Amino acid sequence: MSFYSLSQEERIQLTEAAIRDGGTLRSRWEALADGEAKPWTARSARAAELLGPVESVLDVGCGTMGLEPLLQTQRYVPSDVVARDERTIVRDYNREGPPPVQVEAVAVLGVLEYLLDPEGFMRQLQADKAVVTYCTTDSPSPLEPRRSHAWVNDMDTATVEQMFARAGWTIRSDEQLDGAQRIWLLTRT
Ligand SMILES: C[S@@+](CC[C@H](N)C(=O)[O-])C[C@H]1O[C@@H](n2cnc3c(N)ncnc32)[C@H](O)[C@@H]1O
Repeated sequence: MSFYSLSQEERIQLTEAAIRDGGTLRSRWEALADGEAKPWTARSARAAELLGPVESVLDVGCGTMGLEPLLQTQRYVPSDVVARDERTIVRDYNREGPPPVQVEAVAVLGVLEYLLDPEGFMRQLQADKAVVTYCTTDSPSPLEPRRSHAWVNDMDTATVEQMFARAGWTIRSDEQLDGAQRIWLLTRT
């Protein structure tokens, strides 16, 4: 059963229970609803443009891998809490952090919202460049209530940017991607 077939109240309860347990709401991700990934294509397209040509890309929380065909890269490394294909490095970032893979660039698209320690996660990435999206609480049309989307943290733009700095990243560009989310291009400080 897909997460969004549950009532809003049920979704909030499941998310709050996952936060209390310090774990990941895996059931949210095992069955992606039909068409759920469709709106993520525009985000992937902008992310690929911002990255430009790169030798290698680690796609954390790769989902349906809409990013892969848009990238200019020799080496695409997908990772997720669910095996999306035979290449996927399966890892629960809330328990194990990101995969210890050295790459030129990492894509963190629609993932930080689900992480209990986004700063620790960003710090551990082994890459020179990152493209990151996040649904900030101060976006023009924030998606509320956040727990009903399985989001476990609540940061405004300033808080996200301070978190990047503490995790060892410098902001090269940032823009509002749509009504709900921003996108940043980062390099290692
Ligand atoms: C909103 S989808 C984004 C998918 C993809 N990045 C895109 O933009 O099309 C979030 C993805 O992160 C993965 N994910 C969520 N929590 C995770 C965790 N704790 N560890 C690893 N992957 C996780 C989910 O399985 C899902 O594929």
